[in-house]
Amino acid sequence: MTAHVALDKAAHLLGIKLLKAPLTDRWVADVDWVRDHVTKNTVALVGSAANYAHGLIDPIEQLSEIALEHDIGLHVDGCLGGFILPWGERLGYAIPRFDFRVPGVTSISADTHKYGYALKGTSVLLYRNSDLRKYQYFTFPDWPGGIYFSPGLSGSRSGGVVAATWAAMVNLGEKGYLEVADKIFKTAAKLREGIDAIPELEVMGDPTFLVAFRARELDIYHVNDYLISRGWRLNGLHLPPALHFCVTRPNTAPGVAEAFLSDLRTAVEYAKHPSRSEPRSGALYGLGGTPAGNEILDTLFTAALDAMYEVAPTEGA
Ligand SMILES: Cc1ncc(COP(=O)(O)O)c(C=O)c1O
Repeated sequence: MTAHVALDKAAHLLGIKLLKAPLTDRWVADVDWVRDHVTKNTVALVGSAANYAHGLIDPIEQLSEIALEHDIGLHVDGCLGGFILPWGERLGYAIPRFDFRVPGVTSISADTHKYGYALKGTSVLLYRNSDLRKYQYFTFPDWPGGIYFSPGLSGSRSGGVVAATWAAMVNLGEKGYLEVADKIFKTAAKLREGIDAIPELEVMGDPTFLVAFRARELDIYHVNDYLISRGWRLNGLHLPPALHFCVTRPNTAPGVAEAFLSDLRTAVEYAKHPSRSEPRSGALYGLGGTPAGNEILDTLFTAALDAMYEVAPTEGA
């Protein structure tokens, strides 16, 4: 359920049927469900380390056992966690293994443009061996323009962003990544502890750098409305309604976590007696989750993308 929606997009493009495992009460993939749903047509399993919504790591070791048993692939989506979780392990946090040390893992993605502190337009896809990598290539010798070969789905790309990514990584270096990660893990732990201490709220699962939380009886979007009025911009989630705080470098500045927790406590009080019955920040999500609502959202998003492409030309242009 929580695997990134980019997989839906890929499955749509490639004609692959996705089966989505429900979550356990710890908000990670239900491995028993996965085991029961592997068929002879199953291409691969996917787990996240960590997922975008709740920042949690799926049980990769157990998924690996299933993958090995059926001789199928296991992709680990480390887009979000790939450049932060390994530092956490080195810093002594209890980060479960999710990389090639786990025998069934066949590929891992890790976004340099997230905790790698590099530019968008770059990312990393690692394969267990070069045989697997071959499947992403496309070659075509019979074209008048010349003999064509292309390493992956995306066509022409800028070498500039790759060079800039390399520069960012070399500039920060292992020591730099470790220092930043240390601050991020410490800040997230402080946030988690503070949220845990608010009885009306519930931290989802066992997070380490991205803390998602929901409200037990209140409308979490009212909580968000108040936070927005105080200048905080958390990501709103749904299915179920929740918010998440993805801790990044600026959030580790002294006093930020304390200021947030103080505003969060007031936000919870506000949500008990909100100034309007419908929260502002939850309105859009409230539409989703039903066939009629989802259809309206599809139309709305298509119109929004149309509008981006159809910006009226400026005068004289
Ligand atoms: C966990 C995770 N996986 C995958 C992606 C998707 O990557 P892209 O935006 O390149 O499709 C993201 C977000 O960018 C993510 O957070």
